[in-house]
Amino acid sequence: MGLMTGKKGIVFGVANERSYAYFIAQSLVQQGAEVGFTFLPMGKMEQRVGKAVKKLGIDEPWLVSCDANDDESIQAVFDKWEADHGTLDFVVHSIAFADKDYLRPDMFHKTPRDVYKNAIDTSAYTLVAMSRSALPLMQKTDGTKTTPGGALMNMSYYGGEKVTPGYNIMGVAKSCLEHTTRYLAYELGQPDRNVRVNCISAGPFKTLAGAGVGGMDKMIEYQEWASSMKRCNTGEEVGDTAVYLLSDLSSGVTGETIHVDAGFSIVGVPPHKDE
Ligand SMILES: NC(=O)c1ccc[n+]([C@@H]2O[C@H](COP(=O)([O-])OP(=O)(O)OC[C@H]3O[C@@H](n4cnc5c(N)ncnc54)[C@H](O)[C@@H]3O)[C@@H](O)[C@H]2O)c1
Repeated sequence: MGLMTGKKGIVFGVANERSYAYFIAQSLVQQGAEVGFTFLPMGKMEQRVGKAVKKLGIDEPWLVSCDANDDESIQAVFDKWEADHGTLDFVVHSIAFADKDYLRPDMFHKTPRDVYKNAIDTSAYTLVAMSRSALPLMQKTDGTKTTPGGALMNMSYYGGEKVTPGYNIMGVAKSCLEHTTRYLAYELGQPDRNVRVNCISAGPFKTLAGAGVGGMDKMIEYQEWASSMKRCNTGEEVGDTAVYLLSDLSSGVTGETIHVDAGFSIVGVPPHKDE
């Protein structure tokens, strides 16, 4: 019996087998969860996500289109989930977007209004919209789920806390996402709701979204040198921490941002390069 046996939920954000969401889904499945997925209706995303999900050993995946910039599209995902599964235990929000032309050093002050708004909308507001749609389903109970409640988690990066040149508007969006996590945690954590909301702040990782950030190679190199553990975190480590946050193991934890970054964020002034 796994830590997630008997729990079911939706993972937003698998693009391929490199996505952080893929590793989160992998750990959830290993721990016995029943997992459904969404894909961004663009290009060959449906095929790509379907192919990745099959590698997790799910032959007939629950796979639904979702453009998270559209509230109706989000609601349609949860309506379909309710029709097919009835109740919901967890949601993984692992999506973000910002125009990569502005994810370059010295480009933050040039960010146009629409680029700024779109980054915050896609990368932070979508968590509010998802939690609103998830809440009624998390309140429902059935034969296997006897207590109302649930858990949501999302993905951030250190650039939301401190300036990381080139991360720019995405850093502002992550700051917004982390504080959105806290406000949602307060309202949804009330005893009649019993829904927890937490965040993982993970290290740099070469994914589709990661490739759009100018200077990703330098961020990885710097983390390998400056972090406590002298390495980057793995996708599996993020996946296993997500299991903790979505399982009953973390029943007293909400509104937190847990760093899974091999001890990078705790270091103020790293040793001199020669040491
Ligand atoms: N890669 C890194 O270095 C890194 C580090 C820390 C945190 N993160 C965060 O992890 C999360 C996942 O990113 P990733 O690095 O795995 O990259 P990824 O490209 O694999 O995943 C990003 C996902 O966002 C989805 N998405 C974008 N716009 C969307 C929209 N409008 N509607 C629905 N889905 C949309 C994409 O389809 C994709 O599946 C993001 O929040 C990202 O900021 C990434």
